[in-house]
Amino acid sequence: MDTFYERVGGDSFFVDLVDAFYVGVEFNEILRPMYPEDLTESKRFLALFLAQYFGGPQAYNAERGHPRLRMRHDPFRITKKARDAWLKCMLDGLDTVSDRLSPEDLRDIKDYLVMAAHQLRNA
Ligand code: HEM
Repeated sequence: MDTFYERVGGDSFFVDLVDAFYVGVEFNEILRPMYPEDLTESKRFLALFLAQYFGGPQAYNAERGHPRLRMRHDPFRITKKARDAWLKCMLDGLDTVSDRLSPEDLRDIKDYLVMAAHQLRNA
């Protein structure tokens, strides 16, 4: 199976990862106020984006257009603290689903998330 998306079994992996990530966000005092009260769409967009990035269908683009992540994060003040909080929630979330990944895929998704979080710091 030649894409990460296929190897992890498709959408459900990304939905579970994002659900676990948002459990962290809900209890984080820096992050929670940045997000809307209702997290349903926030969850859906992040899961669609990650699934697409890792080789799944272009469903995120179809709904939201080009990701332009830096631009989409402009409204939020992403300090080093906020970035580290985001990354901790994401890596803790990843721990809950990492048994579904090969060591290589685990390393790849971790590297990507760390890199992307560093790129999105804007304050
Ligand atoms: C560095 C720390 C980060 C913070 C504090 C942060 C915060 C946010 C916030 C507040 C939203 C808006 C949610 C909403 O209105 O529903 C958002 C949206 C989003 N974020 Fe982040 N984010 C961070 C990093 C990342 C990273 C690293 C990625 C990708 C790997 C990412 C992907 C997305 C996506 C796909 C959306 C939805 C965009 C859309 O509206 O279509 N974020 N983020």
